[in-house]
Amino acid sequence: MSDIPTYTLNDGMVIPALGLGTWPMDDALAEQAVRGALGLGYRLVDTAANYGNETGVGRGIAGSGVPREDVVVTTKLPGRHHGYEETLASFEESRRRLGVEYVDLYLIHWPNPRVDKYVDSWRAMIKLREDGLVRSIGVSNFTPEHIRRLEKETGVLPSVNQIELHPLFPQPELRRFHADRGIVTESWSPLGQGSHLLDDPRIADLARTYGVSPGQVVLRWHVQLGALPVPKSADPERQRDNLDVFGFELDAEEMAAVGHHSSPRRLGGDPEVHEEF
Ligand SMILES: NC(=O)c1ccc[n+]([C@@H]2O[C@H](COP(=O)([O-])OP(=O)(O)OC[C@H]3O[C@@H](n4cnc5c(N)ncnc54)[C@H](OP(=O)(O)O)[C@@H]3O)[C@@H](O)[C@H]2O)c1
Repeated sequence: MSDIPTYTLNDGMVIPALGLGTWPMDDALAEQAVRGALGLGYRLVDTAANYGNETGVGRGIAGSGVPREDVVVTTKLPGRHHGYEETLASFEESRRRLGVEYVDLYLIHWPNPRVDKYVDSWRAMIKLREDGLVRSIGVSNFTPEHIRRLEKETGVLPSVNQIELHPLFPQPELRRFHADRGIVTESWSPLGQGSHLLDDPRIADLARTYGVSPGQVVLRWHVQLGALPVPKSADPERQRDNLDVFGFELDAEEMAAVGHHSSPRRLGGDPEVHEEF
């Protein structure tokens, strides 16, 4: 692994504290972006069957010159494939598109509670891990209720929950729930999708103080929360910036200032009702 700090998951797997998001890149852009990012030192790549770019991600990894075993490849099960057999088949398709022998981190993309098959998928993921085809299994967009149900029905907790997390939607209760159970919080849309968040004057002030960009201040905030952000960038300069967040530290007051927004709001779907197929 490069010199990025790491987290140890509840199953013993060690993963970098920051990775590269790849939505909404197509295959060609993903190949180029992933190859470039690995060259800069990224060692975790986040994709999903539903991003339609697993082939490009796989080619980017293969063409990077970085040994396969040094890269944490994450992909996700789509909602249309929930169910035990469906999950095993969907995984095989993802693995083929990625062109890998095994996937490092496999996540259920959304719980789709109305369909109510995520526990069956979880049992299949446990089997994939037992068979050595997946190193670590986790979830995405799960609420405490969904995670408690996985634990009650299978006895196996996810290693990570990848959730919407950024200063406009800081999710303190869910992060505490994860911390109490040794589940690592992965942050999706960590930069608030590059929105007006990065123009916030408090963040701009801190960027000036530390001689970094607003994006770096926000990513540093994630790291100091103990979360694992997966910022997406296809731009080599921004990819470099986004990785370079381990050389400065925000104090408690600055952390609070970055995370303090009067009315938290989501940019994406609410897992209780959002359906992703
Ligand atoms: N599990 C889920 O349900 C879920 C949902 C959404 C996303 N995700 C994952 O999370 C990843 C990240 O989320 P996201 O793509 O929605 O949002 P994001 O990473 O918060 O923001 C990405 C946007 O910010 C720009 N950007 C990147 N670095 C920047 C910087 N340093 N300064 C200014 N702008 C910057 C990017 O443009 P450039 O490319 O031009 O740099 C892009 O437009 C996705 O790619 C995906 O892998 C997961």
